[in-house]
Amino acid sequence: MPSPRSTVITVPPPIHGARDYTELQRLGLAPDDVIDFSTNSNPYGPHPAIFQAMGEALADPALVRRYPDRDCLALRAAIAVADKVPQENILPGNGATELIHLIALTFVKPDSRHLILSPTFGEYSRALHLMGGKVYECRPETHHLLHLDLETITTTIHRVQPDTIWLCNPNNPTGQYWSKAELAQLRAADPDARILWIIDEAYRHFVDPGARGNDEEQWTWGENVIRLRSLTKDHSLAGLRLGYLLAAPKLVNLLKAAQPPWSVNSLAQMAGVAALQTESITWRNFTLTQLRQHALDLWVGLSQLGLPIHPTSTTFALLKVKHAPEFRHHLLMRGLLVRDCASFGLPGHIRVAAHRPAANERLRATIAELLAQN
Ligand SMILES: Cc1ncc(COP(=O)(O)O)c(C=O)c1O
Repeated sequence: MPSPRSTVITVPPPIHGARDYTELQRLGLAPDDVIDFSTNSNPYGPHPAIFQAMGEALADPALVRRYPDRDCLALRAAIAVADKVPQENILPGNGATELIHLIALTFVKPDSRHLILSPTFGEYSRALHLMGGKVYECRPETHHLLHLDLETITTTIHRVQPDTIWLCNPNNPTGQYWSKAELAQLRAADPDARILWIIDEAYRHFVDPGARGNDEEQWTWGENVIRLRSLTKDHSLAGLRLGYLLAAPKLVNLLKAAQPPWSVNSLAQMAGVAALQTESITWRNFTLTQLRQHALDLWVGLSQLGLPIHPTSTTFALLKVKHAPEFRHHLLMRGLLVRDCASFGLPGHIRVAAHRPAANERLRATIAELLAQN
């Protein structure tokens, strides 16, 4: 047998939130017995019109028999209207995760250098390492705030001279949000547009639109920017796997040339079209506004228990706890799943994504009980 690419053996397996079905089986828990606070997703679920569209689509056997539209024409048309971008700037993928790996496949070369603004989503590092890239991280200097400042990043860019920069906005897991003005300042560190900037906006709609301002036109930045978006979080379609990227047509064509054909299945394409209609977008905006209030209430409840919460612009936040793995385990055995953040390089932290009020109250009360036992 030939030996595999060495990174397949050396790069550690991915660690993510969400239900781990193997772990649940080992613990004797059923997936439905668990409320998932470890995934940053809209707890109100998809708009009913999305289910209706999928139901109608599945009633036609051709949907399953035929290969999907490899160019995602209807989906790209819907994204173009919703995001006000030309269709040639859009590349859909099997979740933003596929697109992250696609970017790494396309741009990592033996000596290329890649800078990740950390702590952040682990797939950037994993995809880059798998392709054999040289990966550099820029982490906040003071550990207590966990937020990066412009000066630290600019200095690191000058020192590392990266080929690509990976920036998550708002950032998972810290909840840091970079305004349009701050991003423009950062880009000033690359005056010749030599670097490829990958800006992951998977959680964009979870940030208060007032704080976000008008960030629509950022995609026109130039030929060297890719913006990643996901429909699995704000529209709660994680099981279908659906994301897209926005970039200059030249970049879109390059990336598409490296993408496996038919990677977005027909059902996901139909669901995406339905998710981008006005009624679903209105539902998404309404439910996320509710969720932001529930999150604020939850942060107040948890801080009253004496748990320090890191400032966040989103509906998920980092909490400092003693012994995060045990803390997570005790909560899981009580049907509440949170994210242990050791894999982000943040031992002693858990990440909690707010839910609806009844679930949030259950989490708060259970944590109060656990803290009282210690
Ligand atoms: C920052 C970030 N980007 C992308 C993804 C992946 O999104 P998708 O479900 O569209 O693959 C995640 C998932 O947790 C994430 O946290």
